[in-house]
Amino acid sequence: MKIFHLSAECYPIAKVGGLADVVGALPKYQNDNGEDSAVIMPFYKNPFTTTHNFSSVFEGHVHLGNTSYAYQILKTSDVSLGFEVYFVAIDTLLHTPFVYSENDVDRFLAFQIAALDWILTLKQFPNILHCHDHHTGLIPFMTQECYKYEALNKIPVITTIHNAQYQGWMTYEHLHKIPPFNMEHIGLLDWDKVINPLAAAIKCAWRVTTVSPSYMEELKQNANGLEQLLAHESGKAVGILNGIDTEVWNPETDDYIIENYNATTVGAGKKANKKWLCKLFNLDEEKPLVAFIGRLVGEKGAELLPEVFHKVLQQEAVNILLLGSGHKDTEEQLSQLRANYSGNYNVYIGYDEKLSHIIYAGADFLLMPSRVEPCGLNQMYCLRYGTVPVVRRIGGLKDTVVDLNDNGFGICHDDVTVSDIAYAVHRALEFYNDTAQFQANRRFIMSIDHSWKTLAKTYINLYNSIN
Ligand code: ADP
Ligand code: GLC
Repeated sequence: MKIFHLSAECYPIAKVGGLADVVGALPKYQNDNGEDSAVIMPFYKNPFTTTHNFSSVFEGHVHLGNTSYAYQILKTSDVSLGFEVYFVAIDTLLHTPFVYSENDVDRFLAFQIAALDWILTLKQFPNILHCHDHHTGLIPFMTQECYKYEALNKIPVITTIHNAQYQGWMTYEHLHKIPPFNMEHIGLLDWDKVINPLAAAIKCAWRVTTVSPSYMEELKQNANGLEQLLAHESGKAVGILNGIDTEVWNPETDDYIIENYNATTVGAGKKANKKWLCKLFNLDEEKPLVAFIGRLVGEKGAELLPEVFHKVLQQEAVNILLLGSGHKDTEEQLSQLRANYSGNYNVYIGYDEKLSHIIYAGADFLLMPSRVEPCGLNQMYCLRYGTVPVVRRIGGLKDTVVDLNDNGFGICHDDVTVSDIAYAVHRALEFYNDTAQFQANRRFIMSIDHSWKTLAKTYINLYNSIN
């Protein structure tokens, strides 16, 4: 089966969050299963693209209303990815260092139209178009409704919702940029009197998936305005849990970390990584290390962290280390806290892939007090590195972490409040002091299998059901 994934992000080419990790792994494992899976994404001017060679496979012009942009479809000769990547290169629009920027309505409209224009020219059409998030949300509509794409309307289109908070809203001023279609069907684009690409995708895609079963159920109650639509379309909607790339995330072979280890050598391996972190961040090697990695936004419960850390550091013998960036207020409060707890607390404000790997390896606990977590990959990465997740029971966290009190291996809490999160950390530290159990648990969590290798078939079965 020939599958095209369409996405704004793909690891290691361009990553903002977990979307990139999924799109950078799933096609590889689909190919290992004998499929022909490739990615179509925008060409950004970033460290990956400036250090790789590309060849042009197509040239054309994409029209947004009366404005025309020259574009190329480029291919990289890098075979190490495990799948083909086709880049839509539009110098004047997409060629920024950042994945997302101010002009995203035009950028992602042009990306989607150029991708479909190119697909129209192919001798062999794909059997599946798999679209990810709202940036590719108009593809199901366009293949179904736009006159020029009539030849593509038999290709099944799937939309995966990685995060329904963001929907790609645009005003009707942009309507003329969408290729002509039967205006009687304009309602398919609409939600609450604006063009809503995610809503259009939910209406028009052949199947809609979310990245965990619990998130799908939650969305029917609360989906930032789309809950009724999702409940209405539930017949074609399904929650499929994400997997992880166990070749990238493997403590035994990970080049980023300080010392490699497996379940037998986990004690010494984690100690060496922790030692390195403690030295770099002026922390106390003898105390347990609780870490947070992620975007500092409300969805992740981040604005509560300064108060949580303050409370925990006053009451417990612990180190806390945070890696993240986001809301400036939260960044500042987290940085200021350093003055009070020097020696046991530190933050790195920014994005650092290598450091994230060392933290997964060196920490004892990973904190995820998310308000919303469609799947969450961090908890699966930390499990693989023998780090105990401390999570809120929500979305994919609920589907992947079982509390110690339920014969499980992690710490879960229900509310996103300072006291609930602090109490969860307190429970984690009590568990840490139960040395034998704690070490046995470490070895156990490393063996939990969340690999795409096992899970790649889940989407293939879905494709087969509509092909
Ligand atoms: P989301 O996509 O909502 O941010 P996920 O848990 O799905 O959450 O994925 C987050 C991904 O981004 C993980 O690979 C995580 O390690 C990575 N990440 C998040 N923040 C940072 C950061 N500041 N530095 C390095 N990696 C980060
Ligand atoms: C989104 C979600 C996250 C999920 C990721 C990959 O960014 O916020 O929970 O893990 O997509 O599907």
